[in-house]
Amino acid sequence: MSSSTEQEKKNAAREAVKLIRDHQVVGLGTGSTAVLAIHEIGERVRQGLVIQGVPTSNSTAALARELSIPLVDINSVAHIDITIDGADEFTKELHLIKGGGGALLREKIVAVKTLQEVIIADASKYVERLGRFRLPVEVIPFASGYVLHELEKLNGKGEVRGAPFVTDEGNYIIDVDFKTIEDPVRLSARLKNITGVVEHGLFTGLAERVLMGTGDKVQVFLK
Ligand code: A5P
Repeated sequence: MSSSTEQEKKNAAREAVKLIRDHQVVGLGTGSTAVLAIHEIGERVRQGLVIQGVPTSNSTAALARELSIPLVDINSVAHIDITIDGADEFTKELHLIKGGGGALLREKIVAVKTLQEVIIADASKYVERLGRFRLPVEVIPFASGYVLHELEKLNGKGEVRGAPFVTDEGNYIIDVDFKTIEDPVRLSARLKNITGVVEHGLFTGLAERVLMGTGDKVQVFLK
C-alpha cells in the first residue's frame, strides 16, 4: 500500500473519531482502516474519553482490550450511538460492499443497531457502481455447494474463500463476482432469500456518512 493511501486512511479515521462524544456506546469496525480509528480512540480514552465499545470481530476485541478501551456486550445495550468502520467499496448513494476482512456478519449486526454509521475509507474505495470488488457472502458450511449453485442462477461466479476461511461465527465466505451490481437493494433481497446464506456484504441504507481521505483532505459523503 502506498504511503499516501495510508495517510488518506489515517486522515479519515482521525476525522471520524472527532464525532465521538463522552458516554457513547461506540461500534468498533474491522479492517486496516478501522484499526487506525481504534488506535485513535485508544488515545482519546487514555486522555479521559469515557465510552463503551462494541467490537465487530474477535481481532478488534483483542485490539480494544490491548488499548484498554472498555467493551460492552452488544446484547446489553438498546442501541449503539456511533460506529466507525471501513468498506471495500462505496458509491455516492452510500451503498457499500463490506466483508473483505471476513467480519461482515457482526459488522452488519452492529450497523443495524447503530444510530450513526460512519464509514472511513481512502480514495481508492469510491466507485460509480459496486462490483469491482467480489461480494463476500457468508454461508453455513453445510450449504456452501448449494449456495454456489444458486448464486450462478443470479449470474454470480462464486468461490469459497481460503482453505477454507472460517468466520468468527463458524461460517464460510463465498466471494462472488457479479460484474457490475446495478441494483444493490434488489440483489440484497435475492441473496437473503437463498437457504444457507447467513448474510452478505451489501450494506444499503445503513451508512449515515462516508469520510473519504483524498490527498491531504477528507471528503464527506452524506446520506
Ligand atoms: C471487514 O470484514 C471489512 O468489512 C472491512 O471493513 C473492509 O474489508 C475494509 O477493510 P480495509 O480497511 O482493510 O480496506
